[in-house]
Amino acid sequence: MQLFKALMFFFASMFLSSCGNYLDQKKTEPELDPSTQEKLSSDFSSVNEAVFSVRCVSCHQQYNNYQGVIRELSAIQAAVVSNRMPKSGGPLTDSQKEILFGWIAKGAPDQAGIPSEPNPPVPLEPTWKSISENVIFPKCLVCHNPQGQAKFLDLSNRQIIFNNRNRVFGGGSKFIDLDLPERSYLLQILNDDEEPMPPVWSNIPRLTPDELKTFSQWLSMGLP
Ligand code: HEC
Ligand code: HEC
Repeated sequence: MQLFKALMFFFASMFLSSCGNYLDQKKTEPELDPSTQEKLSSDFSSVNEAVFSVRCVSCHQQYNNYQGVIRELSAIQAAVVSNRMPKSGGPLTDSQKEILFGWIAKGAPDQAGIPSEPNPPVPLEPTWKSISENVIFPKCLVCHNPQGQAKFLDLSNRQIIFNNRNRVFGGGSKFIDLDLPERSYLLQILNDDEEPMPPVWSNIPRLTPDELKTFSQWLSMGLP
């Protein structure tokens, strides 16, 4: 009888522990079946819901819309493949990666079935809209926002930038000198080859000559 009880106990615990394993497996990420994966990687709004909005947008505001993502697509791919990004909360899960890379393999369509056209380059203009969308948001905002590592200098909206114009930096230059725009500290730091912004360690590309030109035009015009 003792032996029988012991055996029952043995089998019961085997059974329970295998259940336990089964539940554990369920808890770790379920594999996506191919048709679900296919669906989730077919257009931007699904990829956004599964990946960008939940894992990136808290730090990269510009990834909440299709153009913002397309503009940086190859950098996004490289940062995710190397697990350099997301910067918090661990790497993307396998299914999030499958969804993202599946979508890229399809030509990163906005709408299902319509591969994105290589977007014709829109010329940069010296206006807040154009400068912010093409230069400041992609190249500065990840650090210069109210929660970022450079929150002492918020660059997230035009009014704040304007209000900070007379702040003095470095060797006594105004942040933005509206009388002598070319003296602005902001331009100096963008052109500084030793310690430029964005910082070299960030992997974020510096402004191109064309962007620099339009950026200083924008300062000269008084930040329209
Ligand atoms: C917790 C904030 C945070 C999150 C979340 C985050 N990033 Fe970043 N990201 C940064 C910061 C800060 C930088 C600037 C470089 C650095 O500090 O490493 C950066 C830089 C980048 C860069 C340019 C430099 C590089 O390493 O290639 C890309 C591309 C990028 N992130 C993509 C993403 C993507 C895609 C996601 C979501 C899957 C994401 N990031 C999630 C904070 C974040
Ligand atoms: C990866 C994070 C990061 C990015 C991206 C970045 N910055 Fe910075 N920035 C910092 C940090 C950190 C500091 C403070 C320490 C320092 O001066 O290096 C700073 C300082 C500054 C300063 C003040 C410098 C001083 O001497 O005190 C200016 C102006 C500035 N950044 C402008 C920009 C502009 C404009 C961009 C985009 C073109 C940009 N930054 C992109 C992190 C960043």
